[in-house]
Amino acid sequence: MARLTPENVQRARDTISLYPVARSALIPLLHMAQEQDGWLSEEAMVHVAELLELTPAEVYGTASFYDMLFTEPVGRYLVSICTNIACLLEGAYELLEHAGSTLGVRPGSTTPDELFTLEEVECIADCGRAPCLAVNWRFFGDVTPDGFDRLVARLRAGELSDEVPPHGTLSRVRRTVGLPARAEGGRERR
Ligand code: FES
Repeated sequence: MARLTPENVQRARDTISLYPVARSALIPLLHMAQEQDGWLSEEAMVHVAELLELTPAEVYGTASFYDMLFTEPVGRYLVSICTNIACLLEGAYELLEHAGSTLGVRPGSTTPDELFTLEEVECIADCGRAPCLAVNWRFFGDVTPDGFDRLVARLRAGELSDEVPPHGTLSRVRRTVGLPARAEGGRERR
């Protein structure tokens, strides 16, 4: 996989300029890299380290700590099924088992066509609609086994591409405002 594209390098520089200390932009830059490739490749993490004047180990240490950052490839659709208490009482484990058999993978694995990764997660704060799941961090509630199969079919057919962007995209809204921070000496940080 790749280093950041020239367009993303510019976005990264613009983001870094918003912080008095460059390393504070580490997590936004990691999300940017993940948006580009769907996960954080070694090349992308090394590039982020160069842009922030950090060591690759510092970048990897942060990337590997957070659940929403992936240092291994994941499918285009990350299906996260909650099995915490409210969902558990409403059949979350039956749903997880059904999802595994529909997709043909165990939790923690990706389908051979690299379209779906299935994972079991803790409460995703949608307890009122248990059992629920997230696809690329977009929420779906009151999910029955049949509803799950319909959801997978619609994702496969591309019918939800407006609602569910490819994995790695947190938001399609780009930041257009923000004041550049000034580094010591009054220069704008670039
Ligand atoms: S317990 Fe499943 S969303 Fe809270």
